[in-house]
Amino acid sequence: MTTDAKILTALRANPDGVSGADLAAHLAISRAAIWARIDELRKVGYDIEASPHFGYRLISAPDALHADDLLARLGKTRVIGRDIQVFEQTTSTNDVVEKLARDGVKEGVVVFAESQTKGRGRLGRKWLSPTRKGLWFSILLRPDLRPQEATRLIVASATALRRAIQTVTGISAEIKWPNDLLVGGKKVVGILTEMSAEVDRVRYVILGIGVDVNQDADEFPPDLRKLATSLKAASGEAVSRADLATQILRELDKDYARIGAGKFAAVADEWESACATIGRNVTVHVGDRKFAGRAETLDDDGALLVRSEHGHLERITGGDVILEK
Ligand code: BTN
Repeated sequence: MTTDAKILTALRANPDGVSGADLAAHLAISRAAIWARIDELRKVGYDIEASPHFGYRLISAPDALHADDLLARLGKTRVIGRDIQVFEQTTSTNDVVEKLARDGVKEGVVVFAESQTKGRGRLGRKWLSPTRKGLWFSILLRPDLRPQEATRLIVASATALRRAIQTVTGISAEIKWPNDLLVGGKKVVGILTEMSAEVDRVRYVILGIGVDVNQDADEFPPDLRKLATSLKAASGEAVSRADLATQILRELDKDYARIGAGKFAAVADEWESACATIGRNVTVHVGDRKFAGRAETLDDDGALLVRSEHGHLERITGGDVILEK
């Protein structure tokens, strides 16, 4: 943990204040060095009060993502969030993580960007990533899975994101296979997984997640307003992105561990109970093919099983699934 992360952890653990002498002793650095770091934190928007009576007190944190702060809030995790990087702007956080993956970086690193100039969605779509309005981030994973099992990660991410959103905002989102979370029928979360694999082994997976958090309804382009919303637009209340980011990483870490421990069935059960797709009539688009059917269940790899109009059970691992009335 960096010095800033340790200072922020100590300030959060002592909401009534902590003395400069105690901080210095705890971090084994001088009081002058503590003062210098506090000054830097103030410059990036932390309101930290200093008084002879209380010592240092954290009054408020900025609505900006700060790697040290996220690390401090998160505390120790098994894998996800071991390292966190925050960029003010990047093309796509998936690109940044891909480079890290090729450089052999260990799994668990998370890269956030306050905005993306070339955010991308599934099926070659664009993903809008306005500055500080949402959470745009990617995670590097090196799971011990066969390529055809990688859909499990998407399923697990959806359940983890749903729990985190519920905890932080009280909103119960619905899951739409495989990678969307919906509130009031409109999309608030999208997940884009990109993978490098050998025939029988995944080399790495980049889990790219976009959460629309604090946009007002009229900030979405007119053609998206019927399809997409934000947590703020849905609930009427702004959401702390740092709180939400921390909770998401915590929940993702739990579900990644469940998958690693061979407990995908429990994840799948949770997924099915929150799923808007199972039991619904759907139209499936895969490449140039399109067919109608009824979504029945998930299989052991996380693929969707759809009974077509002609009675065949089709196994869907990609493409688009449109919910019909
Ligand atoms: C989709 O629903 O089509 C998936 C959208 C995924 C968007 C996220 S934002 C962070 C990461 N970087 C990207 O360029 N895309 C993903």
